[in-house]
Amino acid sequence: MKKRIWTLLMIVAAFSLVLAGCGTKENTSSSDGGTSEDNGAKKQVYKVGTEATFAPFESVDDKGNIVGIDVDVLQAIADEMDFEVEWNNIGWEPVFQTIKNSETDIGASGITINEERKESFDFTEPYYESQLLIVVKEDSKIKSLADLKDKKISVQINATGHMAAKKLQGEASTNIMAFENQPVAIQEMLNGNVDATIGDNAVIYEYMEANPKAKLKVIKDDAFEKEYYGFMVRKGNEELLKILNEGLQKIKDNGKLKEITGTDFK
Ligand code: ARG
Repeated sequence: MKKRIWTLLMIVAAFSLVLAGCGTKENTSSSDGGTSEDNGAKKQVYKVGTEATFAPFESVDDKGNIVGIDVDVLQAIADEMDFEVEWNNIGWEPVFQTIKNSETDIGASGITINEERKESFDFTEPYYESQLLIVVKEDSKIKSLADLKDKKISVQINATGHMAAKKLQGEASTNIMAFENQPVAIQEMLNGNVDATIGDNAVIYEYMEANPKAKLKVIKDDAFEKEYYGFMVRKGNEELLKILNEGLQKIKDNGKLKEITGTDFK
């Protein structure tokens, strides 16, 4: 009798070892060029490009991981559609260039869908609503976008804030200072090198929360149109676009998107 129990135990133990082995994920980075092994099935791995100084959408935490709303939203889509993502913090302009030359598959960087970009890229359905804000020092007299007509403005290069500044002051204006990322643009204003900075609302509010000592004032102006973020793919990459849109629709329907972003967005 004792012997039989032992044999049974051995079998159970052996079995759980096998099961544990199955559950262990192989390294999920796409060393083999776009697929990874998981439970024996090859999963597609998509390369994602981002510029991670854009909290709450993407930033680098103390452990060096890229974290934020975009990471969570794309992961939720990946879970629904059974693919994997490999994040690359490559800088804002490379997000666009690397999609064009197929070095990355997806641009996920709080990217606003607009007509100009749609000429060169394809976008998913939107997942977040945003609007530009003006930020000035607490004691500034600036009250509206119109007040910035001949003031010095800092922006993130080729971001929608940059486009808005050019629309106001003209393409060739020398009063517009364009920087690599949004935090630097804000810092330039704090340093007194420009009168105001323009950036995305959620990111500005997050910055103010993280830097409570910075004496800043935000100005909302409905002259700024509502913007919608989407994930960006190479123009004509319909297969990937379809997968992303299908997953996005699922997480809109099951409430996951709302859970991640905190806003109801259909
Ligand atoms: N939404 C703006 C745009 O699309 C700014 C995005 C900047 N994103 C970033 N991760 N730095 O132009």
